Amino acid sequence: MIKVGIIGCGKITERASLPNLVNYKHRCKVLCLCDIIKNRAERMADRFTLGDVEILRDWKRLVSRKDIDVVFINTPNYLHERMAVEAARNRKHILVEKPITISLKAADNMIKAARDAGVFLMVEQTQRFDPVHQAAERILRSGILGRIHNIRGRIGHAGPEYWSGGESDWYYDKRKSGGGCMVDIGVHIADLIRWFKAKRVTELFARIQTIEKKIPVDDNATVLLKFADGTKGEFECSWTTRPYEVLTYIYGEKGRMTTSIGSQRPLMLTLAKTGRGEDPNCALRQEYPRISDGSGWGNAVHYFIDCISKKQKPFVTGEEGRETLRLILAAYESDRRGRWVRIRR
Ligand SMILES: NC(=O)c1ccc[n+]([C@@H]2O[C@H](COP(=O)([O-])OP(=O)(O)OC[C@H]3O[C@@H](n4cnc5c(N)ncnc54)[C@H](O)[C@@H]3O)[C@@H](O)[C@H]2O)c1
Repeated sequence: MIKVGIIGCGKITERASLPNLVNYKHRCKVLCLCDIIKNRAERMADRFTLGDVEILRDWKRLVSRKDIDVVFINTPNYLHERMAVEAARNRKHILVEKPITISLKAADNMIKAARDAGVFLMVEQTQRFDPVHQAAERILRSGILGRIHNIRGRIGHAGPEYWSGGESDWYYDKRKSGGGCMVDIGVHIADLIRWFKAKRVTELFARIQTIEKKIPVDDNATVLLKFADGTKGEFECSWTTRPYEVLTYIYGEKGRMTTSIGSQRPLMLTLAKTGRGEDPNCALRQEYPRISDGSGWGNAVHYFIDCISKKQKPFVTGEEGRETLRLILAAYESDRRGRWVRIRR
């Protein structure tokens, strides 16, 4: 039985962490909830009938509780570093929400603290856990599409005000969030493309804008990518897209695949005729591969709990979260300078 403490009792705790911890109660138990606004934690405890859970305002008291094995860090992005470092020092395994944090130095501190303490640090890059994306990744690894020449991705929704019901203004405060839609959801699609492609990004070029909302951070962005194998990719993220979507288009030597979360055909594989004398403009066949049940949020939480039970290192490590953050920060740099930016090793 893995014993859990959660810091931050806002939307992600309500929609993702608690429902999926409660439905996994044969493997884990929530011992403590913390929020600086105490009644948010109390509300969660009631809503999920957590019984004798401890409610705290001070997160340091939560991370120092001896009986807690893992800490979920579900607070605004700028707080992730200090909470993760302190949790690691107290020998807690950590599931930190995306983005890992808002600077590379802060990410390095988190990774070092976890390494020094011998605890696992996983970044909740939930797109990797969506069953559609998991099926797509297995297909890519099978090699059926041959070499991948191009990956395009897009993520969009209507903006944080619709997610949080107007309760979380930190999303628009660069000091607390690190940036706008680029940081908030660009980090999802950049991470997904990195995972699908399984090659390092060596250069990128970005255009980042605020085109609709009256906010001091970006609400739309477009990024071009070059990978270490010379192929290219691109992604867009948007806080002005209705309804929500996550799309990828993946082009390989032998065909193409599309993923489209929220659509009736979320995964489509189209293979071209590539035999001797055949016209590759013609499709050989189209498939709609089977997708397992579950959700990205549920799979991520359950996977993390299982990793801790089995003492197995989670695959979305702090280093992975840092690499994705690096692209996001480089995109802002590219936009500022108006040119391609090299991503050094
Ligand atoms: N993986 C995903 O799909 C996904 C989706 C949405 C948000 N997120 C991430 O989850 C994190 C939280 O986002 P959210 O939408 O739940 O925000 P939120 O504003 O709804 O919740 C954050 C909570 O943290 C609390 N808090 C702030 N400072 C605190 C402190 N010092 N100590 C204790 N509690 C404190 C706030 O009172 C609030 O209740 C962010 O990093 C965000 O990027 C991830």
